[in-house]
Amino acid sequence: MKKNQMNRRTFLGTTGAVAAGTLLTSGIPAFGSASKPVRRRIALVGTGGRGIGFWGKPVQDRYSDIIEFVGLCDINPGRVELAKKYIGVSCPTFTSFDEMLIKTTPDLVMVTTVDATHHAFIIKALESGCDVLTEKPMTTDEIKCQAILDAERKSGRKVIVGFNYRHGDHFTAIKELLVKNRVGKITSVDFHWYLNTYHGADYFRRWHGEMNKSGSLLVHKATHHFDLLNWWIDSDPTEVFAYGSLEHYGKNNPYRGPNCRQCAYKDKCRFFYDITKDPDYMALYVDNEKYDGYIRDNCLWRDSIDIFDKMAVQIKYANDVQVSYSLTTYSPFEGLTIAFNGMLGRIDTWQDLPWRSKELADQAQKHALEMSQEKKPVTEEYNEIMVSDNFGQTSLVKVPLVVTGHGGGDERLQDRIFRNPETPDPYKHMAGTRDGAMSALLGIAARKSILEKRIVRIEELTDIKPHPARGLPRLPQDADEE
Ligand SMILES: NC(=O)c1ccc[n+]([C@@H]2O[C@H](COP(=O)([O-])OP(=O)(O)OC[C@H]3O[C@@H](n4cnc5c(N)ncnc54)[C@H](O)[C@@H]3O)[C@@H](O)[C@H]2O)c1
Repeated sequence: MKKNQMNRRTFLGTTGAVAAGTLLTSGIPAFGSASKPVRRRIALVGTGGRGIGFWGKPVQDRYSDIIEFVGLCDINPGRVELAKKYIGVSCPTFTSFDEMLIKTTPDLVMVTTVDATHHAFIIKALESGCDVLTEKPMTTDEIKCQAILDAERKSGRKVIVGFNYRHGDHFTAIKELLVKNRVGKITSVDFHWYLNTYHGADYFRRWHGEMNKSGSLLVHKATHHFDLLNWWIDSDPTEVFAYGSLEHYGKNNPYRGPNCRQCAYKDKCRFFYDITKDPDYMALYVDNEKYDGYIRDNCLWRDSIDIFDKMAVQIKYANDVQVSYSLTTYSPFEGLTIAFNGMLGRIDTWQDLPWRSKELADQAQKHALEMSQEKKPVTEEYNEIMVSDNFGQTSLVKVPLVVTGHGGGDERLQDRIFRNPETPDPYKHMAGTRDGAMSALLGIAARKSILEKRIVRIEELTDIKPHPARGLPRLPQDADEE
């Protein structure tokens, strides 16, 4: 019997909702209790920015009464040592994942490596009887996706995919309106995401710019957006058609350099990025280049970039909703617009459109001046959702802006995983392999569609059969497992 199997059986035996296939909680049992304090043993692989800055230090700082880091692993020996100090733990460090698994026997493995490598760690961890928490995207191609689904099924353990965007206030408020059927049956969605010339460019500075590492931004970045769409629409995608090309970054520029630090075109290049001004990045990346050649301020114009920098995707869902999605990577401003077209009206929302933000700020200041007893300006920012009824009125839902990570979603996700895994999850915020697969498969299908110039059907990729309503078992024999 694999380690921890008894734990899971005991858990399933006492949690009717999970046994019935309706995953209402994170699916991973809470460890310890007031009477029996046992700390969950956690190992982390991939000690880069996300690993240490989100799943490392904050988890250690907030949950060390109930969790214990037992191992840290990275192929880069310098970065993993720095991670240990930064996170503030005393556990051993490893450059071999296999050795870490054998020596530390974790309960939960957190996977925060380069996207195309996630599957290897997820599968090995499951095979050793561990639960897994993986960063998005769950994986980057359909073969790895199927292998993860098979491994989870065989192991009897659980994989959580850390879709933090779902947990934010703004996106949850949209979900609430959709669950309440506020504008009737949704028939189509328009979703457009703009990355600016800082954030968008940053993806092209490093491994994300290479298809075999990130699967393209249709997988690496759009996995967030496709997951939101699947969750909001509450159905599975069936068909995908996409266009995309590389017109701005990569080989498109007339000059290039070895990296920004050593570039002969520093004064000329509008995208020059001075990493030497960032002591954290110097310590995490530049000081450890000597071990693996990972260049954090790599040239945006290098020839090895082979992903798309503009993308347009058409998606058809099993419940007949159709979606128009686009992703742009060199916009003057960062933001998004979404519209849900329903039979009875329409829901619109947006984030960070500059003219609109200014108007909001000005109005908030005006309102604050009117209301304030202290006669000093107070700002009160919020996201807006506009609800318009056919033949009727338009009204605004105001969602107070939370400035902490992803609209408060980051901390809420971690609380649901570590502190309160068994609290009810009525909006199904928590995501497992089925949601992780569906989101990644949408990006994989879009990439395939661009490269093969054809409509790609989701069911040709893995054994998951798209359903009009989400959350159904993958195959009849999975009914007991899920
Ligand atoms: N949910 C979010 O909002 C969010 C935000 C940022 C990053 N991420 C995800 O987190 C992951 C890490 O991203 P990052 O920005 O920290 O990247 P990063 O490049 O800073 O870190 C990746 C780390 O993985 C290590 N690594 C690579 N291959 C490895 C291997 N085979 N074995 C062991 N270690 C290996 C690298 O040395 C590096 O330290 C990615 O999957 C990314 O998609 C998610």
